[in-house]
Amino acid sequence: MKLIESMAEIRLMCDALRREGKRIGLVPTMGYLHDGHLTLVNRARRAADVVIATIFVNPTQFAAGEDLSTYPRDPDGDRRKLEEAGCDILYLPRHDEIYPDGFASYVTVEGLALKYEGAFRPTHFRGVATIVAKFFNIMNPDVAVFGRKDAQQVAVIRQVIRDLSYGVRLIVEDTVREPDGLAMSSRNVYLSPEEREESLSISRALGAARDAIAGGVPVDEAEHLLRATLSPVIVLDYADIIDPRTFEHGVDGGELLGIFAGRVGRTRLIDNMVMSAVEG
Ligand code: PAF
Repeated sequence: MKLIESMAEIRLMCDALRREGKRIGLVPTMGYLHDGHLTLVNRARRAADVVIATIFVNPTQFAAGEDLSTYPRDPDGDRRKLEEAGCDILYLPRHDEIYPDGFASYVTVEGLALKYEGAFRPTHFRGVATIVAKFFNIMNPDVAVFGRKDAQQVAVIRQVIRDLSYGVRLIVEDTVREPDGLAMSSRNVYLSPEEREESLSISRALGAARDAIAGGVPVDEAEHLLRATLSPVIVLDYADIIDPRTFEHGVDGGELLGIFAGRVGRTRLIDNMVMSAVEG
């Protein structure tokens, strides 16, 4: 696996690959990789000739007081895992090249980006949209692979691709869960054993709501069950059943996604589960 830190070098590399007719698959990450990330790399390998992963803990998507300075890091472990997963190039952007002195241009997304995560973390999606757009500009990938665990992030990126006319194909991979159901996340490392135990109620609650919907229970009742099944130690931001295209409240018979965000101790977790999909 080739390591590249310079923006000029990764640009040249991508230009050369494209001239050779190679399709580029991009997997952007913030590192501290788990099996969920490696699934994205595997998917990119199937969709492209060359896989580029990025590791960059993007400061603009963290608000003051969030975990930017303590975000878990494991550069050696990450490199080994990516190598084993068959990643071809690891781009480790230099902060001063991504955000040069005087940086003042951002991508802001309205509409669905203002709801849920956007309401609780008002500058988050601006940071995500900006870094992802920059990566698209720098590498011009054919496909980019993201995890469904960040369902609203995926919706925001889809919007950016459409609105700013990027020619990249978005691929979304399902959430990978621990055997006990906890959605894999780099932030799970913050949880104490007791907190981890309480966190299991999240996937249990989403699963209970999904099963209720499958059994014909109306959305409002299933949403009630979702909230009631969560451990009372969780400080809830939201647990709703929504339409995944608009992030508006879900309607009976429509496409439905259960979404959750809340704090377990000092750790903020998010999760979601498809409750019902509409054909077509
Ligand atoms: O999902 C993440 O890890 C980040 O939000 C991303 C897409 C790498 C942008 O920094």
